[in-house]
Amino acid sequence: MKNKKFYPAEVFLNDKWKKPEDAFVSVFDRSFMFGDGIYEVTPFYSGKPFRLQDHLARVRYCLKEMNIDFDASILEKLMLEAVRRSSFSSEDAAVYLQISRGKAPRSHFIPEDAEPTLLLYAFRVDLTNFKDRFWKVIASEDLRWHRCDIKSTALLANTMANDAAISAGYDENLLFRNGVFTEGSHTTIFFVKNGVVYTHPEGRQILSGITRKVMIDLCRELEIPLKEEAFPVAGLPDVDEIFLTGTTTQVAPVSSVTLEGKEVFTSQKGEITRLLQEEFIKRTRR
Ligand code: PDD
Repeated sequence: MKNKKFYPAEVFLNDKWKKPEDAFVSVFDRSFMFGDGIYEVTPFYSGKPFRLQDHLARVRYCLKEMNIDFDASILEKLMLEAVRRSSFSSEDAAVYLQISRGKAPRSHFIPEDAEPTLLLYAFRVDLTNFKDRFWKVIASEDLRWHRCDIKSTALLANTMANDAAISAGYDENLLFRNGVFTEGSHTTIFFVKNGVVYTHPEGRQILSGITRKVMIDLCRELEIPLKEEAFPVAGLPDVDEIFLTGTTTQVAPVSSVTLEGKEVFTSQKGEITRLLQEEFIKRTRR
């Protein structure tokens, strides 16, 4: 097995904590049939949540956009409990949660009376070793839908894009649409050119990353010029630094980009990436 992943000891399903082997969802759950659900991944540094309210706000936004009627006010307590019950109170961990529209007879129209299904659990994640790890990436066309702002469990285009990279020996796939980069298969992309940081503006083409927001705040604080502008694929040869961000990725320097079999960008870790990594560590390890 390439990626050995461990299952959590317990999961919270709808209203109870259960062993994963005792947790069942209906075959008519719309997340199983249509990927009709949303999810969230929230980091806990040494057992403490980071930007928890931002993650919860994104959950609420996605529920609203998907018109899923679910009371998100129960989540914070459950997330903290998941970490405590898994004995991660002083370790690095993350909480995964997903809310699907629930069980209903299969239909393309959205049923009115489905009861949402909640799944939530904590898992161990190493949030320490990102600093000196370089990511070798490929770039390919963004084949996803046009609501990438919704953190939907329907991730097939993302998983296929990611697998295209991993199975070819790379770490991530940078996606582009209409000649500009949108985001990675599970990361936000930042480019640095002549001392200016660029990242795709918020909207329907990207997920509004929480780590992206942290980077924007840090650039403001450190007076690093930042432009929320889409970066052209044709501009790659002029780029000085590229880094990727995400909850589990954190701040990862890109050492090379391969496009259509040709290496079109190579770099050592740049100064701005280094600075943002250091400041990020200070904020998360406070
Ligand atoms: N992925 N863009 C996409 C498509 C993502 O899936 C993610 C995160 C990000 C970064 O968002 P954030 O900084 O809020 O984690 C950007 C999560 C971690 C996942 O799918 O596991």
